[in-house]
Amino acid sequence: VTSVRPAGERDRSNGTRPELGRTSLLREVYRSLLNTGRTYAGFRDEDREIVGHLAQRGPILDPMSGYGGLASFCSQMGADSFGVEYNPPQFFWQVLVQPDRIDLNLGAIEEIIKVRRKWPKPRRRAIISDEFVPDELRKTLISLFEVIASSFSKSLIADERVAEAALSLLLPFAGRLCCTSPADISTHTKEGGTCVLVGWQDDFATYLAALRYRLKQNKENARGGRQHVISGDARNVNLGSTRFRAMFTSPPYPNHRDFSSILLPENKVIDALSEAHGLPILFDREAIIGSNFVKGAPATEFDSIVVSKFINQISAVRRNKRAGYDDDVYYIPYFRKYFSALGGAYHNIARYLDSSLDGYIAVVNNTHRGVVIPVAETVREIWEGLGFHSEIHRSLEMFHLGARNPRAKGIRARHTEYLVRIWR
Ligand SMILES: C[S@@+](CC[C@H](N)C(=O)[O-])C[C@H]1O[C@@H](n2cnc3c(N)ncnc32)[C@H](O)[C@@H]1O
Repeated sequence: VTSVRPAGERDRSNGTRPELGRTSLLREVYRSLLNTGRTYAGFRDEDREIVGHLAQRGPILDPMSGYGGLASFCSQMGADSFGVEYNPPQFFWQVLVQPDRIDLNLGAIEEIIKVRRKWPKPRRRAIISDEFVPDELRKTLISLFEVIASSFSKSLIADERVAEAALSLLLPFAGRLCCTSPADISTHTKEGGTCVLVGWQDDFATYLAALRYRLKQNKENARGGRQHVISGDARNVNLGSTRFRAMFTSPPYPNHRDFSSILLPENKVIDALSEAHGLPILFDREAIIGSNFVKGAPATEFDSIVVSKFINQISAVRRNKRAGYDDDVYYIPYFRKYFSALGGAYHNIARYLDSSLDGYIAVVNNTHRGVVIPVAETVREIWEGLGFHSEIHRSLEMFHLGARNPRAKGIRARHTEYLVRIWR
């Protein structure tokens, strides 16, 4: 297994850009984050202007901050941001690329490369298992984590922060040391399969080179500002006496990307390391907003005219028996749970917004059985119920062709992006 594929792209300050190809066996989501610095971000380039204007009001809040699209935007503009993120691997990605951690991480990378002889040496060439992290890989991951942790300079970081820093550096590579097989959608992976151990050290070296390049790029593009991120659930996070005057955020979209399952192997690795090292990482995967767990979910009361109308519309669609059954046992409970969780999150976050708030929420309305899933309207209804004003600041209708469902045509392929503005 070889993996070094320099793209040949020269960069004046940092030399050849080491591009992570498929043969590095790194997960697609991390290859894309490392190669390009981003995956999905809730806002578009034209939103820079809005972010620029919000930045004058103080730190910009993103209570569901994903991979930190807002933070990197702000860093490039010299603005301050404050992110909350519930899904640990996404939170740790933000920790890894935080501008004020770059020198710390670059130092650790150099040290890890220097101590290559201490990297774990698993005896097998490959492992096949029906678990993500069978015993032998657990041991390998734990030793690798220990090598990384001891590579952080003790003079630059407090002891109690080392585990967090080491985990953030290990995670983008961790999926490479799990037993997985490809899923239908390239962003996902299935539990169980083969983990090729031959050559893993070369892949790790390539990963470190790609990460070093990415961090240096981020450093070069940073114009200042302070990017802060905490791990927490928007539904109950406590932000103390802070009152934000600016917000730019986007919620997970129903039935679209379930962030907890995209990052399932990484969450399993976190579980394994938490057990071994007693890391206090609290996360209930089923509770992430937009996750596809509906069984046993509490029947949450959520009073929404828009959602009730939507559910009535779905129920009135002429469906075959199977589709009707799926709606009753899965989709309708799923939508109720999704919208009620979103309502709970905004209800909590509203407590930390100043009366002079200027806020923007980027959302996408997809369709279900030809009925538009009214995310934008429900978001407006929730915020208006909380005493805010709202308007559709911009909307953009798009048709996605091919990628997820090649047969989707017409309204089934339609999704509309909205930027909802809220103020008091
Ligand atoms: C569309 S993404 C956010 C993208 C981000 N605003 C950006 O523009 O880069 C939605 C994020 O919400 C997170 N999320 C889901 N449930 C959450 C909760 N209860 N509290 C905080 N974040 C949550 C998901 O893990 C996901 O990362």
